[in-house]
Amino acid sequence: MKLIHPAVLAAIYSLSTPLSSAADTAQLERGAYLSVIMDCAGCHMPRDRDGAPIFEAGLSGGTIGFELPGLGVFWAPNLTPDATGLGDWSKDDIVQAIRYGERPDGRILAPVMPWPAYSQLTDVDVDALVTFLMSMEPVEAPRFGPEHSAEAVSAPFYRVVSPAD
Ligand code: HEC
Repeated sequence: MKLIHPAVLAAIYSLSTPLSSAADTAQLERGAYLSVIMDCAGCHMPRDRDGAPIFEAGLSGGTIGFELPGLGVFWAPNLTPDATGLGDWSKDDIVQAIRYGERPDGRILAPVMPWPAYSQLTDVDVDALVTFLMSMEPVEAPRFGPEHSAEAVSAPFYRVVSPAD
């Protein structure tokens, strides 16, 4: 990682505030755009009882989990910077989870979170995406699972069901 000396950083900001804030805005817009086309909301936005997304709840955590036979049942957690979400995670922690599926506690995320695909993100794009996530309004939300088996769940989940032969 390239580090910029704080004094140099301060000088850049004091000399070129309009320029750097335009760059910040462009980066946030890029991050928001990426979060939309990469469909974070498809899994990380709460849904009502009929399965419709609750847009005003933002990316505060999916309420319908995914059963992966043999692995367990996984709900997409709150991505907002609240303590019930990613509030205590550093920027690098979030990058690591998105790109390599690794949480700060070392657990590897179930691949229903598409991190194998997201590993292809460029440095610039992952930086914009995470900068955007960290700029979102914090939302306090309940956390579900993960559970080792469907027997223990307390929230709805998607399951693959094969038609009877
Ligand atoms: C197809 C569903 C799906 C999509 C799309 C998806 N995620 Fe996830 N994500 C999950 C699930 C499910 C988990 C939890 C997996 C687990 O606990 O093993 C997760 C976990 C995470 C985590 C770890 C959070 C934690 O508290 O452990 C981060 C960070 C994350 N996703 C970010 C994103 C971002 C950013 C996007 C969009 C660019 C995204 N996800 C898109 C399903 C998805």
